[in-house]
Amino acid sequence: MIPDRKAFQQSISGRQTDLFILKNSKNMQAAITNYGGRLVSLLVPDKNTQLVDVVTGYDSLDGYQQKDDPYFGAIIGRYGNRIANGQFRLDGKEYHLEINNGPNALHGGSGGFHARVWDARQLDEQTLELYYFSKDGEEGYPGNLQVKVVYSLTDDQGLKIDYQAATDKATIINLTNHAYFNLDGEGKGTILGQYLQLNADKFVPIDENSIPLGFLEETAGTPFDFKEAMPIGKRINEDNQQLKNGNGYDHTFVLNHPPKTLGLCGIAKSSETGIVMEVLTTEPGVQFYTGNFVDVNEGKGGKAYHQRSAFCLETQHFPDSPNQPSFPDTTLRKDETYSSTTIYRFSTI
Ligand code: GAL
Repeated sequence: MIPDRKAFQQSISGRQTDLFILKNSKNMQAAITNYGGRLVSLLVPDKNTQLVDVVTGYDSLDGYQQKDDPYFGAIIGRYGNRIANGQFRLDGKEYHLEINNGPNALHGGSGGFHARVWDARQLDEQTLELYYFSKDGEEGYPGNLQVKVVYSLTDDQGLKIDYQAATDKATIINLTNHAYFNLDGEGKGTILGQYLQLNADKFVPIDENSIPLGFLEETAGTPFDFKEAMPIGKRINEDNQQLKNGNGYDHTFVLNHPPKTLGLCGIAKSSETGIVMEVLTTEPGVQFYTGNFVDVNEGKGGKAYHQRSAFCLETQHFPDSPNQPSFPDTTLRKDETYSSTTIYRFSTI
């Protein structure tokens, strides 16, 4: 179940890609490639102590380089999620990004961090450091940006992701990881019967191009209320304009915990495997995405992944923040350090 390392070794623009294996003392294992910092597999014990791979992906690097890959397992940057019309102003200057999603910019552009070869340093069995230098003007963003992402497998069954960045000129930043989870095991049908609880009293409503309407909406009394654990699919087909706009759930939930502290974002569960995943983050929001556009013919082991065969909990700032004055600021200035932590922690019931 651990992928073949050789299938991940390539030279891309003179830079070497590889596959790195992390293990903790409790039999949890993760495979990560430095191509896009992608989490390729995540093996966690189920209720019978059998290892289950809970993330979708491909058997070789070629899969991750396909044009229609939905960012499986990737580090997303420089700005995760959408920026309306690919435009923003910063310190009086207008910047233009690649339009790669309807009329908008998505996930840092086609040459975003998900498609770059990172420098990798495996510190020990449990820790992998990744570094990327994003040049001033790359994909249209201002400022030379140094990024460091550390993946660690903790002994309390956590996959911890620490992000840090610094710039030499003001820029915008919103980093996340785009792992697609299926707690029944990747490739094992849809996630509609899996339970989710989210600590979010509000969410970010969007228009038909997935751009925020500019205000927050209460989740209470709507299909977006996940304060009590609910099967993901229970209300997904309700007659609701927001579900229509997202083609299902594809929205940022505003997390209740105080800003910049590590708080519990939510908990997902599978009654098949008994696997429970808690998500903790320092970010103010989480994009809950039910894989509405997933259509991959050949994933791991040759399996196809269809719509709703996995879900994402992408911890992050809110979409289009540079154009939304009421949202938490995503500007990073010279001499400031960006830092953010997310933990996906596993147990069984
Ligand atoms: C999500 C986004 C979705 C879709 C997906 C990639 O983060 O919210 O709308 O674009 O990435 O396929």
